[in-house]
Amino acid sequence: MSRRKLVVGNWKMNGLRAQLGEVEAIGGLARDYPAVEVGLCLPATLISPADGVKGAAFIGAQDCHMKESGAHTGCLSAAMLAEAGASWTIVGHSERRQDQGETDADVAAKALAARAAGLKVILCVGESLDVRDAGNAEAVVAAQLLASLPDGAAADWLAIAYEPIWAIGTGRIPTMEAVAAMHAALRAALASRIGVEAEGMRILYGGSMNGDNAAELLALADVDGGLIGGASLAAAKFAPVIAAA
Ligand code: G3H
Repeated sequence: MSRRKLVVGNWKMNGLRAQLGEVEAIGGLARDYPAVEVGLCLPATLISPADGVKGAAFIGAQDCHMKESGAHTGCLSAAMLAEAGASWTIVGHSERRQDQGETDADVAAKALAARAAGLKVILCVGESLDVRDAGNAEAVVAAQLLASLPDGAAADWLAIAYEPIWAIGTGRIPTMEAVAAMHAALRAALASRIGVEAEGMRILYGGSMNGDNAAELLALADVDGGLIGGASLAAAKFAPVIAAA
């Protein structure tokens, strides 16, 4: 089955209004590559101002709360993010699983909350270096995926991002064989839960993806795009990744 490539920048805690020019330039790149779905998951403060300059890119959030509203100081609901201009959100990024102690059940609940507000979702999974070195990364990450997968998971609103934690921001990536094996294992895990729907679900790779390695990663059979941190902060660095897709 052919799956449209999905290339998404995650700006993490980077970006002030002074960087809106980069958003605009990336939105222009998205217009140049209509075969690729391009987006930027921005700090919440930039979602609304980015809406006016996003060109053909979509704007997404990096997290949402699992509840619709309530006494949760400092948190943002999915509906708030959608109203600000987000059409996607990331959930379950390893930095939130580690720093905020988010569990698999939290991640599944957040995905459902996002969907209820009309947001599409990128659900992140990935192993630590200890797990990778122990040799059972595929089983561990597949189990994490199934535990984090929301009810009603379907390809038209959910994508998966495989991000080995030890590859994030380090300049290291797994071998191509290891990436291919993991993505195949994750698709098989999805199929065990959602059947043929798994064939249409996009599985992105994330972790030190850049203009030098994107073409090789994106050529792998089950790699349907990328979730890119550092190399998405400037249009000049993001451009070769989008072009490679
Ligand atoms: O969400 C993005 C990933 O954590 C990858 O970040 O490209 O800076 O390694 P990175």
